[in-house]
Amino acid sequence: MKALEVRVRRVRKGDIDRIIDIERSWHHLSHWSVDSYYRLLNDDSFTSSFVAEIEDEGAKPKIVGFVIFHIAADVSEIYNIAVESSHARSGIGNELMRAAIQESGRRKAEKVVLEVRKSNDPAINFYLKFNFKIAGERKNYYSNPIEDAYVMELAISD
Ligand SMILES: CC(C)(COP(=O)(O)OP(=O)(O)OC[C@H]1O[C@@H](n2cnc3c(N)ncnc32)[C@H](O)[C@@H]1OP(=O)(O)O)[C@@H](O)C(=O)NCCC(=O)NCCS
Repeated sequence: MKALEVRVRRVRKGDIDRIIDIERSWHHLSHWSVDSYYRLLNDDSFTSSFVAEIEDEGAKPKIVGFVIFHIAADVSEIYNIAVESSHARSGIGNELMRAAIQESGRRKAEKVVLEVRKSNDPAINFYLKFNFKIAGERKNYYSNPIEDAYVMELAISD
């Protein structure tokens, strides 16, 4: 079987609808509003984002994952990362997170931080695999449903 070839590139404006579809492919997770995606992804000065593409059956690039993050001073914050549910567990999230960490280091961030629902075991496992550590908690951080968040951090070594 041919190994999955994943290409990570910077987001373009035309990618937003596909990004929203990917986030919505996880039916049981709560979702950002469409407006939040348009606001964040249209703000070039503020947020960095990457998408992951594979080739579809017609050898055309198809976006199957994304990561949205923001670097301020020495802290890089991951806002959201998702892989289309039908392509989960194929190493695509891994490529996206590697790219985000690499870009954060390149732009002189010293750590990467994120929040995750305490019940989101797959994502927590995914972050632990990258050596993120639980650095704290935020009470009732999420709505729909209300839930606490873990704050997770990764120190970037040069
Ligand atoms: C979290 C997410 C982005 C991971 O992407 P992915 O492409 O499936 O992850 P990968 O295939 O690169 O997995 C890398 C490693 O993460 C861990 N991991 C990923 N999914 C896992 C799961 N469901 N259960 C346990 N560990 C998991 C494993 O250690 C895995 O390595 P392995 O497959 O060699 O065991 C994906 O599950 C997703 O989109 N989830 C829904 C959105 C979400 O919850 N985002 C986080 C918001 S805070």
